[in-house]
Amino acid sequence: MFGDAQSTGNNGMSIHTSENNWILETRNTAYVFGINAAGLLKHRYWGVRLPNQADYPAALNWPNWASFNNAPHLAQEEYPGYNEMKFIEPALKISFPGGVRDVVLRFERAATEGEQLYIHLRDTYFHLNVTLIYTVHAAEDIIERTVTLSNFGDQPMTIERVFSAQWHLPYGDQYRFTHLSGRWFDEFKIQQENLKPGVKVIESRRINTSHHANPWFALDRGGADEDQGEVWFGALSWSGNWKIAAEVTDFASTRVNVGLNDWDFAWALKPGETFNTPSAFAGYTVEGFGGASRRLHDLIRGRLPNPKTPHRIHYNSWEAVFFNVDVQSQIAAAEMAAGLGIELFVMDDGWFHKRDDDHAALGDWWPDERKFPDGLKPLIDRVKALGMDFGLWLEPEMVNKNSDLYRAHPDWVLHYPHRERTEGRNQLILNMARQDVQDYLIEKLDGLLGANDITFIKWDMNRSVSEAGWPEYEGEQREIWVRYVQGLYRVWNTLKERHPKILWQSCSGGGGRADMDILKIADEIHVSDNTGAAARLGIQEGFSMAYPAITMEAQVSDMEAPIPVAFRFHVAMSGMLGMSCDLTKWSAAELDEARKWIAVYKEIRSIVQFGDQYRLRPAQAGSGYSAVQYMSKDKAEGVVFAFRTHIPDPANPLALRLRGLEAEAQYTVEGFEGARSGQAWMHSDNLFMLKNFESTVRKIKRV
Ligand code: GLA
Repeated sequence: MFGDAQSTGNNGMSIHTSENNWILETRNTAYVFGINAAGLLKHRYWGVRLPNQADYPAALNWPNWASFNNAPHLAQEEYPGYNEMKFIEPALKISFPGGVRDVVLRFERAATEGEQLYIHLRDTYFHLNVTLIYTVHAAEDIIERTVTLSNFGDQPMTIERVFSAQWHLPYGDQYRFTHLSGRWFDEFKIQQENLKPGVKVIESRRINTSHHANPWFALDRGGADEDQGEVWFGALSWSGNWKIAAEVTDFASTRVNVGLNDWDFAWALKPGETFNTPSAFAGYTVEGFGGASRRLHDLIRGRLPNPKTPHRIHYNSWEAVFFNVDVQSQIAAAEMAAGLGIELFVMDDGWFHKRDDDHAALGDWWPDERKFPDGLKPLIDRVKALGMDFGLWLEPEMVNKNSDLYRAHPDWVLHYPHRERTEGRNQLILNMARQDVQDYLIEKLDGLLGANDITFIKWDMNRSVSEAGWPEYEGEQREIWVRYVQGLYRVWNTLKERHPKILWQSCSGGGGRADMDILKIADEIHVSDNTGAAARLGIQEGFSMAYPAITMEAQVSDMEAPIPVAFRFHVAMSGMLGMSCDLTKWSAAELDEARKWIAVYKEIRSIVQFGDQYRLRPAQAGSGYSAVQYMSKDKAEGVVFAFRTHIPDPANPLALRLRGLEAEAQYTVEGFEGARSGQAWMHSDNLFMLKNFESTVRKIKRV
């Protein structure tokens, strides 16, 4: 099973080990660390793969720098614990019995297993093992890191911080930090700022991933663009409180800490117990931000529960009727949707017991007797007879005070004694850390899903946390942040195992729960409640920095309806197409047009959902003109979308250069005369003449 890492060898192509040194190689990159003479596990190199193993810099010993800065403060330690005279951000902080609040790790042994490397560290006195686990994703140029802590003694210890990774950049303090910020209705804003000495933190304290920041980052030296330049990028796979802390030290060393948020966090690690962190992923490319995104897209797509299943074109009832669903209106909507070529009919909020608005009913997950007197079956039967699949909206983690569930179990929500229970959208949060809550949800929802032919669930979560207490729990209260998410995963995964036909969507009032972990459970994300076509251009661009188009639900809606139908479709077709609008208000001509674009989407969907994405012109930069292109993996087919909202300067020619073509091959592009070489399409200006709020979709073909 485990290879002997102390002998020189090449394990599974990607991991080279020699005495106290490890080289992790991917297709184009290398990530290198080793033990220095002082016994510290030191980062050595992260960048382009070098020809010889001897080319990589050694694990240097640092001298002390005056009496104020000892060597460990200066060293680029691979996984620094808080100890010694060290004031950088540590990756690990533990409290031991007797008031000892530092951790002193020493290398024990290493082992490899396939594409994984295990580095075993141990505290010099206390019975704590720390295992750093590295997984090489060679094809995507990405390294994955997790950490396992185990208490093999008979004394308790308290984890106060445990990051999944500290990623070291080549020496220097000249880095630009790119990240995503936002808010409800306005997610995935691309932010760029130069790092200065000190710590820049992005995080969630909201118990879910959050609309406000996303656990993704990229760093460059200020010169990278979409197509070229060195970019170091990464993401955390976790759906709860997280933290990314990018630090420039007082000695010009830049590093990024990624992991569980240590804010209000503590974990009692009892004798015999272990604690596993979420996975942090990071990669390096010289192909700019576009290259970084494509690598993550490939990795994320490969980890999806259904990586090879094309996503269906869906209709969702929400923006058409909001809570006013009933069997007749939904059958009528389904008939219209089927007539357009829609493949999946999703009934959103409003279908369950006494749910008429957002003041009541969350928790009572059975069909409303007034709206669905014979249950969901008559509607589902009709949807199936129309040739579509049926999907349903749920918000399992939530409860309204006005519900049978809350009346029966007021203690099942997160709360503190002596404090008011703060409501958000009139609802409280079930304490998913409790086994009885988990079991209740599993039983109730299993019954619902077992009794009905449902193949799609939109799993929503519509508020941020408050009063994150669990008064009945006798252990460490601050474990709640992690235990909640573990409970959520248990409920969701159990339902998923029991109902393998279902494809799940993660929604949290739009894009509040978009991360790599949820994308191992759910195949897609409801990216934003903002479905206005112009705003979506920017939101979708930001989302695409980290996540692939197959996960990006995109709906044509009536929001910003004055924007032409074609434009609204093109925006949604550049992701995973759906519709959420009142079709009864659409004219015959508009419905014909919808039918046409749905048919076109069926022709191009495999390129959009499984191809490589190129952001040709940015939407968020505000030029009023943006474009995105997708190419099939074999570069034989592609599609380019171009959008003009407004251009202040009407003389500005709308010129695009395509990307990702084979230079020598000949291609045609719809709307342009004749075939030209890939090189020509990529290196000369191709004019797309669009007026304000005009857009276009053009197929690219290798001939
Ligand atoms: C959230 C979702 C919407 C819709 C409503 C229903 O806001 O993001 O898409 O499902 O809840 O209440």
